[in-house]
Amino acid sequence: MRILVSMRKALIAGNWKLNKNITETKEFIDEFLKLYNPNSQEDYQAAGIEAMLIPTFTSLSAAAKKLSETGIELGAQDLSEHGSGAFTGEVSAEMLSEVGVSTVLVGHSERREIFKENDSVINAKLKRALGSGLKAILCCGESLETREVDGTDDWISKQIELALEDINEIENWSEIENSLSEKLSIAYEPIWAIGTGKTCESPEANRVIKNIRSKLESVLAPLSKEGVADEIKILYGGSVRPNTIEEQMKESDIDGALVGGASLKPEDFSNIIKGALEARSTCTGG
Ligand code: PGA
Repeated sequence: MRILVSMRKALIAGNWKLNKNITETKEFIDEFLKLYNPNSQEDYQAAGIEAMLIPTFTSLSAAAKKLSETGIELGAQDLSEHGSGAFTGEVSAEMLSEVGVSTVLVGHSERREIFKENDSVINAKLKRALGSGLKAILCCGESLETREVDGTDDWISKQIELALEDINEIENWSEIENSLSEKLSIAYEPIWAIGTGKTCESPEANRVIKNIRSKLESVLAPLSKEGVADEIKILYGGSVRPNTIEEQMKESDIDGALVGGASLKPEDFSNIIKGALEARSTCTGG
Protein backbone atom coordinates (compact mmCIF):
# COMPACT_ATOMS: atom_id res chain seq x y z
CA MET A 1 0.00 0.00 0.00
CA ARG A 2 1.38 3.37 -1.00
CA ILE A 3 0.31 6.29 1.13
CA LEU A 4 -0.39 9.59 -0.60
CA VAL A 5 0.19 12.28 1.96
CA SER A 6 -1.72 15.50 1.52
CA MET A 7 -0.07 18.69 2.68
CA ARG A 8 -2.73 18.97 5.39
CA LYS A 9 -3.20 16.35 8.07
CA ALA A 10 -6.60 14.71 8.26
CA LEU A 11 -8.69 14.79 11.40
CA ILE A 12 -11.59 12.51 12.27
CA ALA A 13 -13.31 13.85 15.39
CA GLY A 14 -16.20 12.20 17.22
CA ASN A 15 -18.61 14.62 18.87
CA TRP A 16 -20.62 12.63 21.38
CA LYS A 17 -22.98 15.50 22.27
CA LEU A 18 -25.14 14.68 25.33
CA ASN A 19 -24.34 10.95 25.31
CA LYS A 20 -22.27 8.50 27.38
CA ASN A 21 -21.64 8.68 31.10
CA ILE A 22 -18.25 7.88 32.64
CA THR A 23 -18.76 4.11 32.60
CA GLU A 24 -19.90 4.14 28.99
CA THR A 25 -16.99 6.38 28.04
CA LYS A 26 -14.46 3.95 29.51
CA GLU A 27 -16.17 0.99 27.84
CA PHE A 28 -16.15 2.75 24.49
CA ILE A 29 -12.45 3.60 24.70
CA ASP A 30 -11.43 0.06 25.72
CA GLU A 31 -13.36 -1.34 22.77
CA PHE A 32 -12.20 1.35 20.36
CA LEU A 33 -8.51 0.86 21.19
CA LYS A 34 -8.82 -2.80 20.18
CA LEU A 35 -10.00 -1.65 16.76
CA TYR A 36 -7.86 1.45 16.28
CA ASN A 37 -4.61 2.22 18.01
CA PRO A 38 -2.50 4.84 16.26
CA ASN A 39 0.60 3.95 18.29
CA SER A 40 0.75 0.47 16.86
CA GLN A 41 -0.65 1.21 13.40
CA GLU A 42 1.94 3.16 11.49
CA ASP A 43 -0.17 3.47 8.35
CA TYR A 44 -2.28 6.08 10.05
CA GLN A 45 0.70 8.17 11.05
CA ALA A 46 2.18 7.88 7.57
CA ALA A 47 -1.10 9.05 6.06
CA GLY A 48 -1.25 11.97 8.50
CA ILE A 49 -4.54 10.89 10.04
CA GLU A 50 -5.46 11.98 13.55
CA ALA A 51 -8.42 10.93 15.64
CA MET A 52 -10.18 12.82 18.41
CA LEU A 53 -12.94 12.01 20.89
CA ILE A 54 -15.17 14.78 22.22
CA PRO A 55 -17.17 13.53 25.22
CA THR A 56 -19.29 15.49 27.71
CA PHE A 57 -17.57 17.57 30.41
CA THR A 58 -18.11 14.98 33.13
CA SER A 59 -16.43 12.21 31.11
CA LEU A 60 -13.37 14.24 30.12
CA SER A 61 -11.21 13.27 33.03
CA ALA A 62 -11.86 9.53 32.66
CA ALA A 63 -11.32 9.79 28.90
CA ALA A 64 -8.05 11.70 29.38
CA LYS A 65 -6.66 8.91 31.58
CA LYS A 66 -7.58 6.22 29.07
CA LEU A 67 -6.32 8.18 26.06
CA SER A 68 -3.02 9.34 27.50
CA GLU A 69 -0.15 8.07 25.37
CA THR A 70 -2.48 6.62 22.73
CA GLY A 71 -2.00 9.50 20.31
CA ILE A 72 -5.77 10.04 20.23
CA GLU A 73 -6.69 13.63 20.99
CA LEU A 74 -9.26 14.75 23.52
CA GLY A 75 -11.68 17.56 22.75
CA ALA A 76 -14.45 19.38 24.64
CA GLN A 77 -17.79 20.41 23.20
CA ASP A 78 -17.86 23.97 24.51
CA LEU A 79 -16.11 26.45 26.80
CA SER A 80 -16.94 29.66 28.58
CA GLU A 81 -16.13 32.96 26.96
CA HIS A 82 -15.06 34.05 30.46
CA GLY A 83 -11.91 33.19 32.37
CA SER A 84 -13.35 32.97 35.89
CA GLY A 85 -15.90 34.61 38.17
CA ALA A 86 -19.65 34.68 38.81
CA PHE A 87 -20.76 32.69 35.76
CA THR A 88 -22.85 29.81 37.11
CA GLY A 89 -22.67 26.67 35.02
CA GLU A 90 -19.66 27.69 32.95
CA VAL A 91 -16.37 25.82 32.39
CA SER A 92 -13.23 27.76 31.52
CA ALA A 93 -10.53 27.06 28.94
CA GLU A 94 -7.95 26.61 31.71
CA MET A 95 -10.15 24.02 33.44
CA LEU A 96 -10.37 22.09 30.19
CA SER A 97 -6.61 22.18 29.70
CA GLU A 98 -6.14 21.03 33.28
CA VAL A 99 -8.03 17.77 32.62
CA GLY A 100 -6.07 17.06 29.44
CA VAL A 101 -8.26 18.58 26.74
CA SER A 102 -6.31 19.82 23.70
CA THR A 103 -9.13 21.14 21.54
CA VAL A 104 -12.58 22.66 21.86
CA LEU A 105 -15.54 22.97 19.50
CA VAL A 106 -16.72 26.54 19.02
CA GLY A 107 -19.98 27.57 17.42
CA HIS A 108 -21.56 24.17 16.80
CA SER A 109 -24.96 24.74 15.20
CA GLU A 110 -26.70 23.19 18.21
CA ARG A 111 -25.05 25.85 20.42
CA ARG A 112 -26.07 28.53 17.94
CA GLU A 113 -29.65 27.33 17.40
CA ILE A 114 -30.74 25.79 20.69
CA PHE A 115 -28.64 27.84 23.11
CA LYS A 116 -28.84 31.06 21.10
CA GLU A 117 -25.12 31.69 20.87
CA ASN A 118 -24.67 34.59 18.51
CA ASP A 119 -21.65 35.48 16.41
CA SER A 120 -20.23 37.80 19.03
CA VAL A 121 -20.32 35.08 21.72
CA ILE A 122 -18.68 32.70 19.27
CA ASN A 123 -16.01 35.28 18.51
CA ALA A 124 -15.35 35.71 22.26
CA LYS A 125 -15.18 31.94 22.80
CA LEU A 126 -12.78 31.47 19.91
CA LYS A 127 -10.49 34.17 21.24
CA ARG A 128 -10.69 32.71 24.74
CA ALA A 129 -9.84 29.21 23.49
CA LEU A 130 -6.88 30.25 21.35
CA GLY A 131 -5.65 32.81 23.86
CA SER A 132 -5.62 30.13 26.57
CA GLY A 133 -3.58 27.68 24.53
CA LEU A 134 -6.39 25.40 23.39
CA LYS A 135 -6.86 24.43 19.77
CA ALA A 136 -10.29 25.22 18.33
CA ILE A 137 -12.58 23.69 15.74
CA LEU A 138 -14.82 26.50 14.54
CA CYS A 139 -18.14 25.20 13.17
CA CYS A 140 -20.18 26.88 10.49
CA GLY A 141 -23.07 25.87 8.25
CA GLU A 142 -26.31 26.96 6.69
CA SER A 143 -29.95 26.02 7.33
CA LEU A 144 -32.13 24.45 4.66
CA GLU A 145 -33.98 27.77 4.21
CA THR A 146 -30.71 29.58 3.53
CA ARG A 147 -29.61 26.91 1.04
CA GLU A 148 -32.94 27.02 -0.77
CA VAL A 149 -32.56 30.73 -1.50
CA ASP A 150 -28.95 30.27 -2.67
CA GLY A 151 -27.65 32.03 0.42
CA THR A 152 -25.14 29.37 1.54
CA ASP A 153 -21.89 31.03 0.50
CA ASP A 154 -22.78 34.49 1.80
CA TRP A 155 -24.06 33.06 5.06
CA ILE A 156 -20.95 31.03 5.73
CA SER A 157 -18.62 33.84 4.68
CA LYS A 158 -20.31 36.05 7.24
CA GLN A 159 -20.05 33.39 9.96
CA ILE A 160 -16.32 33.05 9.31
CA GLU A 161 -15.74 36.78 9.17
CA LEU A 162 -17.60 37.45 12.43
CA ALA A 163 -16.04 34.52 14.28
CA LEU A 164 -12.54 35.73 13.36
CA GLU A 165 -13.19 39.42 13.90
CA ASP A 166 -10.26 41.15 15.62
CA ILE A 167 -8.68 37.78 16.32
CA ASN A 168 -5.30 39.52 16.28
CA GLU A 169 -6.34 41.35 19.44
CA ILE A 170 -5.73 38.18 21.47
CA GLU A 171 -2.90 39.11 23.82
CA ASN A 172 -0.44 36.46 22.63
CA TRP A 173 -1.44 36.66 18.95
CA SER A 174 2.12 36.73 17.64
CA GLU A 175 2.72 33.30 19.20
CA ILE A 176 -0.62 31.90 18.01
CA GLU A 177 -0.20 33.33 14.55
CA ASN A 178 3.05 31.39 14.08
CA SER A 179 1.23 28.10 14.37
CA LEU A 180 -2.30 29.10 13.43
CA SER A 181 -2.85 26.13 11.13
CA GLU A 182 -2.23 23.79 14.06
CA LYS A 183 -4.40 25.83 16.40
CA LEU A 184 -7.44 26.50 14.24
CA SER A 185 -9.55 24.11 12.19
CA ILE A 186 -12.94 24.70 10.61
CA ALA A 187 -15.87 22.30 10.35
CA TYR A 188 -18.41 22.88 7.60
CA GLU A 189 -21.64 21.36 8.84
CA PRO A 190 -24.80 22.10 6.87
CA ILE A 191 -27.51 22.12 9.55
CA TRP A 192 -29.93 20.15 7.38
CA ALA A 193 -27.42 17.29 7.19
CA ILE A 194 -26.81 16.99 10.94
CA GLY A 195 -28.42 13.94 12.49
CA THR A 196 -30.76 13.55 9.52
CA GLY A 197 -29.03 10.81 7.54
CA LYS A 198 -28.86 13.24 4.59
CA THR A 199 -25.32 14.11 3.59
CA CYS A 200 -24.30 17.05 1.49
CA GLU A 201 -23.07 15.64 -1.86
CA SER A 202 -19.27 15.45 -1.69
CA PRO A 203 -18.54 17.74 -4.68
CA GLU A 204 -20.90 20.35 -3.23
CA ALA A 205 -19.34 20.08 0.24
CA ASN A 206 -15.95 20.46 -1.43
CA ARG A 207 -17.13 23.55 -3.32
CA VAL A 208 -18.38 25.21 -0.12
CA ILE A 209 -15.17 24.27 1.68
CA LYS A 210 -13.09 25.84 -1.11
CA ASN A 211 -15.08 29.02 -0.61
CA ILE A 212 -14.44 28.85 3.12
CA ARG A 213 -10.73 28.54 2.36
CA SER A 214 -10.74 31.61 0.16
CA LYS A 215 -12.69 33.53 2.80
CA LEU A 216 -10.07 32.47 5.37
CA GLU A 217 -7.42 33.68 2.97
CA SER A 218 -8.91 37.16 2.74
CA VAL A 219 -9.65 37.46 6.47
CA LEU A 220 -6.27 36.13 7.59
CA ALA A 221 -4.01 37.66 4.94
CA PRO A 222 -3.50 40.93 6.83
CA LEU A 223 -3.15 39.15 10.19
CA SER A 224 -1.08 36.07 9.62
CA LYS A 225 1.67 34.57 7.48
CA GLU A 226 1.10 34.12 3.79
CA GLY A 227 -0.58 30.91 2.70
CA VAL A 228 -1.94 30.00 6.13
CA ALA A 229 -5.44 29.41 4.73
CA ASP A 230 -4.03 26.59 2.59
CA GLU A 231 -2.67 24.90 5.69
CA ILE A 232 -5.79 25.11 7.86
CA LYS A 233 -7.79 21.86 8.08
CA ILE A 234 -11.41 22.11 7.02
CA LEU A 235 -13.61 19.18 8.00
CA TYR A 236 -17.03 18.17 6.75
CA GLY A 237 -19.76 17.22 9.22
CA GLY A 238 -23.35 16.05 8.81
CA SER A 239 -24.39 12.39 8.81
CA VAL A 240 -20.89 11.08 8.05
CA ARG A 241 -20.97 7.27 8.07
CA PRO A 242 -18.48 4.46 7.38
CA ASN A 243 -19.94 4.18 3.87
CA THR A 244 -19.66 7.91 3.04
CA ILE A 245 -16.20 8.81 4.34
CA GLU A 246 -14.04 7.46 1.50
CA GLU A 247 -15.84 9.45 -1.14
CA GLN A 248 -15.80 12.56 1.06
CA MET A 249 -12.10 12.27 1.85
CA LYS A 250 -11.21 11.91 -1.83
CA GLU A 251 -12.30 15.49 -2.42
CA SER A 252 -9.43 17.94 -2.70
CA ASP A 253 -10.38 20.25 0.17
CA ILE A 254 -12.13 17.98 2.67
CA ASP A 255 -9.54 17.28 5.35
CA GLY A 256 -11.56 15.06 7.62
CA ALA A 257 -14.86 14.76 9.41
CA LEU A 258 -16.72 15.90 12.48
CA VAL A 259 -18.86 12.89 13.26
CA GLY A 260 -21.87 12.85 15.58
CA GLY A 261 -24.15 9.78 15.62
CA ALA A 262 -21.68 7.40 13.97
CA SER A 263 -19.00 8.18 16.58
CA LEU A 264 -21.05 6.56 19.35
CA LYS A 265 -20.23 2.99 18.30
CA PRO A 266 -16.55 1.94 18.42
CA GLU A 267 -16.91 -0.15 15.29
CA ASP A 268 -18.54 2.58 13.20
CA PHE A 269 -16.10 5.23 14.36
CA SER A 270 -13.05 3.03 13.75
CA ASN A 271 -14.43 2.13 10.31
CA ILE A 272 -14.73 5.83 9.50
CA ILE A 273 -11.07 6.29 10.42
CA LYS A 274 -10.17 3.25 8.30
CA GLY A 275 -12.15 4.71 5.41
CA ALA A 276 -10.17 7.94 5.71
CA LEU A 277 -6.97 5.90 5.48
CA GLU A 278 -8.27 4.08 2.42
CA ALA A 279 -9.07 7.38 0.75
CA ARG A 280 -5.55 8.64 1.38
CA SER A 281 -3.97 5.47 0.07
CA THR A 282 -3.65 3.81 -3.29
CA CYS A 283 -2.97 0.16 -3.95
CA THR A 284 0.09 -0.40 -6.10
CA GLY A 285 -0.35 -4.14 -6.37
CA GLY A 286 2.62 -4.79 -4.12
P1 PGA B 1 -24.15 13.78 12.83
O1 PGA B 1 -23.64 15.05 13.68
O2 PGA B 1 -22.93 13.07 12.33
O3 PGA B 1 -24.96 12.97 13.80
O4 PGA B 1 -24.96 14.32 11.70
C1 PGA B 1 -22.57 15.84 13.25
C2 PGA B 1 -22.32 16.98 14.20
O5 PGA B 1 -23.28 17.56 14.72
O6 PGA B 1 -21.16 17.34 14.46
